[in-house]
Amino acid sequence: QRKIIIDTDPGQDDAVAILLALASPEEIEVLGITAVAGNVPLALTAKNARIVCELAGKPETPVFAGCDSPMKRRLVTAEHVHGKTGLDGPVLSDPTMDLQEMHAVDFIIETLRSEPEGTVTLCPLGPLTNIATAFERAPDVAARVREIVLMGGAYFEVGNITPAAEFNIYVDPEAADIVFKSGAPITVMPLDVTHKALVTKARNDAFRALATPVGVAVAEMTDFFERFDKEKYGSDGAPLHDPCVIAWLLKPELFSGRKINVEIETGSELTLGMTVADWWGVTDRPANALFIGDVDGDGFFALLTERLARL
Ligand code: BDR
Ligand code: CA
Repeated sequence: QRKIIIDTDPGQDDAVAILLALASPEEIEVLGITAVAGNVPLALTAKNARIVCELAGKPETPVFAGCDSPMKRRLVTAEHVHGKTGLDGPVLSDPTMDLQEMHAVDFIIETLRSEPEGTVTLCPLGPLTNIATAFERAPDVAARVREIVLMGGAYFEVGNITPAAEFNIYVDPEAADIVFKSGAPITVMPLDVTHKALVTKARNDAFRALATPVGVAVAEMTDFFERFDKEKYGSDGAPLHDPCVIAWLLKPELFSGRKINVEIETGSELTLGMTVADWWGVTDRPANALFIGDVDGDGFFALLTERLARL
């Protein structure tokens, strides 16, 4: 069983990732959920994280609010994809569970210090501000992390917020740079993978057919999220980015990738936040990440649907 902290900016796809983790208690223990500003401002991501815990029937999951803006830049949000609330689509009631008083960064530091070394996995699903702030404030904790499994970046698929950059890395490139240089073992789910995990009509129907509050809400969330990709790109459905992180923990055999060097562009305005991934090994820079390149889409959706049915 893995102990994890989910660091997130929900976001419909973040919400589905949280549901997948909470539906899998045999393999995953969610120590806490830390909210960060990203898709929408912090007040909304901290609220949405609690809405999702309650939807899962797990209001005992501790939720912490973290950083409300990137380390050195102004926040860029993505309401154009996720809607005004960040969780547009289903009608869900406001949470009644409390937000924890502790700051998310303190929770991350304290947890990494109090749990045995090498036992806590960090699962960042948004900009890396909380994680990098923890590593900066407490330089001892990066070495205590078991693994960081994050959604972010792109290589062949390049950018979704600029031509060069993926949203999570673009929003806080300085934070991403700190994390990729931290020495902690990193597994990356870039757009190259998540664009193979598309919610087609049949997959959306399978969520709805669960006929549970969770199944229907996930169908409605992915319906909303899909609208953007279908209208803008004429694609088969929306990429379900963030759940790939949790699916990796549950069934790594669905994925394949390479251990490579990844550097983050923090200087150039044109390519800010680009993940410069040395896929072909053309430099002698040491590998610092397992960069995933492919996923078995049918296997991923079968796993996801089967787990959501348990909630
Ligand atoms: C990432 O950006 C957000 O909009 C999604 O939640 C995902 O984490 C994809 O680029
Ligand atoms: Ca996200």
